[in-house]
Amino acid sequence: MIYIAQDEAAFVKKAAQLVLETFSGAIEARKRATWALCGGRTPQWVFPKIAEAYYRERIDWKNVLIFWGDERCVPPDHKDSNYKLAKDLMLSKVPVPAENIYRMAGEMTSPHEAARAYETQLKNIFKYDRPFPKFDLIWLGMGEDGHTASLFPGTSALEETEKWVVGHHVERLSSNRLTLTIPVINNARRVVVLCPGESKAPVLRDLFHPLASKNRYPIQRVHPTGGELIWLLDKAAATKLPPDIRNKAQNI
Ligand code: 6PG
Repeated sequence: MIYIAQDEAAFVKKAAQLVLETFSGAIEARKRATWALCGGRTPQWVFPKIAEAYYRERIDWKNVLIFWGDERCVPPDHKDSNYKLAKDLMLSKVPVPAENIYRMAGEMTSPHEAARAYETQLKNIFKYDRPFPKFDLIWLGMGEDGHTASLFPGTSALEETEKWVVGHHVERLSSNRLTLTIPVINNARRVVVLCPGESKAPVLRDLFHPLASKNRYPIQRVHPTGGELIWLLDKAAATKLPPDIRNKAQNI
């Protein structure tokens, strides 16, 4: 499903509504909702919306478990931390119990050890989900190179088929990152790609072009098996979509 928001308010509202409806369904069915956040700039728009009374008061936060899809290998109070972003703009403003928040330990010296530690935590929480955890909702962003989470083009993390979490050095960023792997992302019940902005239009054109090469961008590997993939774009991001794709999209 592709949604094209006509303005920022519509984009933010749709993203928040999708969170609300995912959680109520999950909690009704399984008494908990599991949500993996993404980082980058885009969530900065949506986090404050979810912290607003209308959404805050409609979410049963004591039954929501918060995770991250990826993290930079920095301390939790570092300006680049995805955890800090979510904490400052949302988690500190909603009544989610501290014990429900599972951040990736970006401060650990070894990204490999940090990944193993997070995977161990996940295996304790998703006790019965094997071979992979089944998140109720995974938020993803997409970079201008088609990366998603911290799965970058040409990195071995993209090829991981067994691990749940990988810690690796990302050459192009000259930095270490932690990330959920493709099999985990594809096992989610719902994946929402938050993808606004003109800078994403060229990659989106390529992605949705009928003759697109299938494995050029990491995000092309995101195909939830049995789950739902939702693209949330804005008008600027959608400008280069093939006409038939645009016509099938829902304007909001
Ligand atoms: C991160 C993200 C990353 C992000 C994309 C899009 O840690 O940076 O998880 O995958 O979602 O780079 O970022 P923007 O939202 O800033 O375009």
